[in-house]
Amino acid sequence: FGSSDEPIISDAVTRKNLLAAAAILHDTTDVVGFPTETVYGLGGSALSDESVRSIYRAKNRPADNPLIVHVSSLSQLKRKILPEDYEIPEIYTPLLAKFWPGPLTILLPVFPSSPLSLLVTANQPTFAVRIPAHPVARALIALSDTPIAAPSANASTRPSPTLASHVYADLQGRIPMILDGGACDVGVESTVVDGLVSPPMLLRPGGISVEDIRKFGGLAWENVVLAKKTAGKMEAVRTPGMKYRHYSPKAKVVLFVNSGTGARVEEYIIKNGLQNKKCALLKSRFFESSPLIQVERDMGTTGADISRNLFAMLREVDEMGVDVIFVEGIDESNEGLAVMNRLSKAAGEIVDGGL
Ligand code: TXA
Ligand code: MG
Repeated sequence: FGSSDEPIISDAVTRKNLLAAAAILHDTTDVVGFPTETVYGLGGSALSDESVRSIYRAKNRPADNPLIVHVSSLSQLKRKILPEDYEIPEIYTPLLAKFWPGPLTILLPVFPSSPLSLLVTANQPTFAVRIPAHPVARALIALSDTPIAAPSANASTRPSPTLASHVYADLQGRIPMILDGGACDVGVESTVVDGLVSPPMLLRPGGISVEDIRKFGGLAWENVVLAKKTAGKMEAVRTPGMKYRHYSPKAKVVLFVNSGTGARVEEYIIKNGLQNKKCALLKSRFFESSPLIQVERDMGTTGADISRNLFAMLREVDEMGVDVIFVEGIDESNEGLAVMNRLSKAAGEIVDGGL
């Protein structure tokens, strides 16, 4: 495709599949599922209205929720999207040096001459962009020589996909191709930051912790402001995506916070007469098994493990047809902030043990 940063792919089958996916993105208005280090994405050309419409259509996404643009390199970003004389604001320099490629998304202004489809930005004056770290994602973007708009590749409202089989379960028959790159390493979506406002804002917690943004971002980022967690339907919100029901399995999710060893799960089952229901527990460090709980999964004890396992385990126990999924809440420091942000949205009920 005449890209200047063409990847080297030694495996013939991988190369053939990547070229087929790249051709779909470059030559058609169709979309493909592909792995990134955070979650699987549903990619289409960010330069084409029809391609972006295909994305919204395939996952049934509300059109006022803007998409992240994925590029394979800074040079592709400059060559394909930014005006020739434009310099990326200095406030981003230390963050990009430290975290790109990787799970960090930044906002940049939309220019009058911008080649981006207006549907990508959903009428925001800014667009969101990141360079994914996953080799398959970067090869795909480089080979198609096209900036790729990609939301998470789940059906709207479902948990984000961290395996190719999750994408297949949600979107089979709706998209022509899914590239399988195995399990996503990070497991939660990228962190979205806005350095165009002062003080800068964290719009969505994600794979890069706010502690690391403060630590590595330079002086301005030490005062980064966290966007509020929820917003009412009618409110104008900084991150439109934050107002929708999200990450939800079919079963009811009950999230326990400040609940010690989790004796309150049994108490909850009895109080709500759920003894004859099929209950699952996703536990971490402190919660214990109970004869009243039929399915149990261990999310792990580190923030990185819990992030990696969270969506896959929600889907796995949901597939088993449980009625209720109890989840042990964790501390909101480091990776915990993104985990608890996703869990609060998945939860139909939050039980605060007050401990
Ligand atoms: O890790 C990720 O970010 C994954 C992978 C596929 O890269 N993508 C992802 O996309 O999570 P999505 O569409 O599920 O979430 C995009 C988020 C939404 O919360 C959206 O509102 C916000 O980014 N966003 C996009 N453009 C924005 C803009 N111009 N201003 C404010 N928020 C924006
Ligand atoms: Mg999403």
